Amino acid sequence: MLESEAIDVEKLRADFPILRRTVHGKRLVYLDNAATTQKPKAVIDSLVDFYSSHNSNVHRSVHALGEEATEAYESSRKKAAEFVGARPRDLVFVRGTTEATNLVRYAWGEKSVKKGDVILTTTMEHHSNIVPWQLLARRNGAVVKYVGLNPDGTLDLGNFEDLLKEAPRLVAFTHCSNVLGTINDVAKLCSKARSAGATTLVDGAQAVPHMPVDVKAVGSDFYAYSGHKMLGPTGIGALVARGGLLEEMDPFQAGGEMIREVYDDHSTWNDVPYKFEAGTVNIADAVGLGAAVRYLESIGMERVRGHEIKLLDYAIKELTAVKGFTLYGPEDTSVRAGVVSFNYADVHPHDLATILDEEGVAIRSGHHCAQPLMRWLDVPATSRASFHVYNSYDDIDALKRAIQRAGEIFKV
Ligand code: ALA
Repeated sequence: MLESEAIDVEKLRADFPILRRTVHGKRLVYLDNAATTQKPKAVIDSLVDFYSSHNSNVHRSVHALGEEATEAYESSRKKAAEFVGARPRDLVFVRGTTEATNLVRYAWGEKSVKKGDVILTTTMEHHSNIVPWQLLARRNGAVVKYVGLNPDGTLDLGNFEDLLKEAPRLVAFTHCSNVLGTINDVAKLCSKARSAGATTLVDGAQAVPHMPVDVKAVGSDFYAYSGHKMLGPTGIGALVARGGLLEEMDPFQAGGEMIREVYDDHSTWNDVPYKFEAGTVNIADAVGLGAAVRYLESIGMERVRGHEIKLLDYAIKELTAVKGFTLYGPEDTSVRAGVVSFNYADVHPHDLATILDEEGVAIRSGHHCAQPLMRWLDVPATSRASFHVYNSYDDIDALKRAIQRAGEIFKV
């Protein structure tokens, strides 16, 4: 398929069994993709096939199933790494982005962050890119500082440059905000942070599923993403490190397989990335992630991004025309991913989400694990519709109709 060719959404939706179901007697309109995405049959089948035909532990047994399981797991590592332009040896399988930031907190941070150091993050982060640094700062005597935002929800680059003058030890920021949809210029941020002597960590949870990402071009030290937000299974994700960095780090969890030799008084470590994969790993879901990558590659990430920009343009135009609708984040879709956070008059987001659910429309409401950002927006919560490749203009029309129905109920 040509990268420029439009996605045939109706055809593609047939790959997702769950999209055939109804909710409260209505067609399911699934717009909660920033929380988790639905799974194509290819991913579901890969899990069934693994457990039906190849199940065994990996890296241990020489029997046929052991070899097959190891081959399936390692070929998924290769797929997951190459998908973001990395080498397989630099990719550690983790449960998701949250485990990745916690791995960095322990395995890199405990040794590298010293008393008085600054850890720089931003006001638009998910809690998983804030709380690990607060805990690290408390343990090692460092301080966490936050880069502020411009009124349109983009990062305040002047403030970023000012804070870099404090020579932060770590600069951790999101590639794409899970609330505002803001896409940060991560290559520029990494380059500036690196020039200031900082190590960088990029939260790619909302970027890798939606646009082409090349970690070499990004230039990050650490880059993390989650499988379940990119059509893959839950419980699997990736931490991608700059070449050589994993070798310098201490282990994360301790146990089987992460060791080379164990003596009564000390142990030595396995090669990377296995040094960071203690115990029996999540084999089947890694295989499922490999299937998700193959599925996304068969569409093409430029096309996924192109499709989401069209949906975003349409959603912003249609929804901002509704009286009482407040949109958060940049309106310029060249710097925004397929996330539409909003409030509707004074209807509480949970009430709105409940009424939308009655119409078969699934959105998320709440603080979206981004309470500092809610404070900056000066709201307790927002409603959020978020897209993926199987969403259509019809879904946005259904969302708009459901919001208008809520408007009738609440007399907006
Ligand atoms: N991080 C996910 C979200 O933003 C769960 O909804």
